[in-house]
Amino acid sequence: MCDLLRRLKEFGYDVRVVPTASALKFVGRPTWEALSGQSASSDIWEEVQDVPHVAIGQKADLVIIAPATADLMSKAATGRADDLLTSVLLTTRAPVIFAPAMHTEMWEHPATVANVETLRSRGAIVIEPSVGRLTGPDSGTGRLAEPASLASVCRAALEGGSGSADLAGRRVLVTAGGTREPLDPVRFLGNRSSGRQGWALAAAAAARGASVKLIAANVDLPEPAGSQVIRVETTSQMFDAVLAEAGEYDAVVMAAAVADFRSTSVANRKIKKDDSGNVPEPIELVRNPDILAALGEKWSQSPTPVVVGFAAETISDEQDREAVGEAKRAAKGANVIVVNEVGVELGFESALNSASILDGSGVVIHVPQTSKEELANAVWDAVIARLPRAERGTEFPAG
Ligand code: C5P
Repeated sequence: MCDLLRRLKEFGYDVRVVPTASALKFVGRPTWEALSGQSASSDIWEEVQDVPHVAIGQKADLVIIAPATADLMSKAATGRADDLLTSVLLTTRAPVIFAPAMHTEMWEHPATVANVETLRSRGAIVIEPSVGRLTGPDSGTGRLAEPASLASVCRAALEGGSGSADLAGRRVLVTAGGTREPLDPVRFLGNRSSGRQGWALAAAAAARGASVKLIAANVDLPEPAGSQVIRVETTSQMFDAVLAEAGEYDAVVMAAAVADFRSTSVANRKIKKDDSGNVPEPIELVRNPDILAALGEKWSQSPTPVVVGFAAETISDEQDREAVGEAKRAAKGANVIVVNEVGVELGFESALNSASILDGSGVVIHVPQTSKEELANAVWDAVIARLPRAERGTEFPAG
């Protein structure tokens, strides 16, 4: 959590750490104070002139409890306020995110399950814990999400988020990264997509309460908080994975950069240069299936899943770019298309992005250069506007 704190500070946020007495057994108060540049008391009886048990919660734009233990969530669910942190939870009206960490048995216990349900029903976000190595030698569900991914969830909640759990109860499928088409055992045709926009879409959806599945092609980023990840390599694998599941989701967002072509043949052995200086035979290409078009054909007339495509274009004129994007949206049968300019240092591999969001109505939402989380929130806004209204999630009255 020191890493999370550092990352939040690097984003430019003011962070106040409120450790519990137990947290201080793991990491001492001087560490929290040095890294945050603020007092890090646990006690309501300290600094009473500032009335911290009320002031901290009132001032906050976001509260994240990380790690959220079974005990802390139980206290929050019943409204206990016997230390500074639980008092903050009662006084804040900001969005509250719990990032659970505990052993599988504790996470699955009916008491914890009921507490999580209570917190969610009040509009708090309880992120699904990761699956993996736990504190002891055992593994399972209950591992704390990676700090980098929690930082991304916080950023999504703070930048362009709705401040509400408006995707609660919704299931969303997101593709990320860039597919690779093998040429021989060591080479492939690929692209420069890093997967960051897809990861940010997952973080933003998790921060609004959705259950998220990511189909990721060749992404080298820490596992995103609260999402289930399926790894694929090629376009055909991504096609199979997406089409197998799309119908079970409220929205499918195709942020992946998908290879349009693959080689007709894949050499069994590494393609070699020979001593005469000849180049190898030209590579013959064949078209890959278009996943988005297949989704559009199947689902564009039904209310769900809402189908969203991305159009990464190297056209610098915005109007021309949007015209190409809109034509692409219509041709592929997507409900919404996110059009962005890509090139060297633009779009791919960067933490920033800008885009136009088009939904065929003629209204264009322009998102100027910003964090990928904020752009992700604008995409989810467009999705939510198309979801059947009655089932929308609840507003936050805090955790
Ligand atoms: O045609 P273009 O590649 O520009 O379309 C981009 C959009 O279509 C993206 O959402 C991408 O994920 C999707 N796509 C696809 N299958 C392909 C090529 C692109 O789903 N074979």
